[in-house]
Amino acid sequence: MKIGIGADHNGYELKEQIKKFIQETMNQEVVDYGCHSCDTIDYPDVAFKVSKAITDGELERGILICGTGLGVAIAANKYPGIRAATCHDTYSAERAQLSNNAQIIAMGSQIIGVEVGKKVVEAYLNVSWAEGSKRKVDKITEKEKEFTGIDFSGSTPKCS
Ligand code: RB5
Repeated sequence: MKIGIGADHNGYELKEQIKKFIQETMNQEVVDYGCHSCDTIDYPDVAFKVSKAITDGELERGILICGTGLGVAIAANKYPGIRAATCHDTYSAERAQLSNNAQIIAMGSQIIGVEVGKKVVEAYLNVSWAEGSKRKVDKITEKEKEFTGIDFSGSTPKCS
């Protein structure tokens, strides 16, 4: 599975730890969309980069990190075709994929520590949507089509 990761300055350090965990412990490919230091950046910029890569079919999943996990999720959810969920516990992370087919989870470095973050990411990446709650997810996609004129119903990108 190809996974994109991105963070603002508040999430930078947690991002580095989560990236290492996905690569070295979960043996999955990670593409890092920044940021690459604690210098201040605007969280929508990185959220949009990861969201675009997902809707372009370059990634299957994304992890976004800011201070609270809220700003990056709000920004990502403005991106047509994206379902992003803020998750700070393993149950929500698992359900974000199984019930909501969320391509992205967001976390806040000011809310959780590294070890909980790893567990949350593991819970999210270890499950795959099997069309659970499809009728409800389809309604979200239909509303998006109504607003944008674009049909995202086929967009569950598979990269490998
Ligand atoms: C800093 O921009 C801070 O607002 C950000 O890290 C995040 O917590 C926003 O939701």
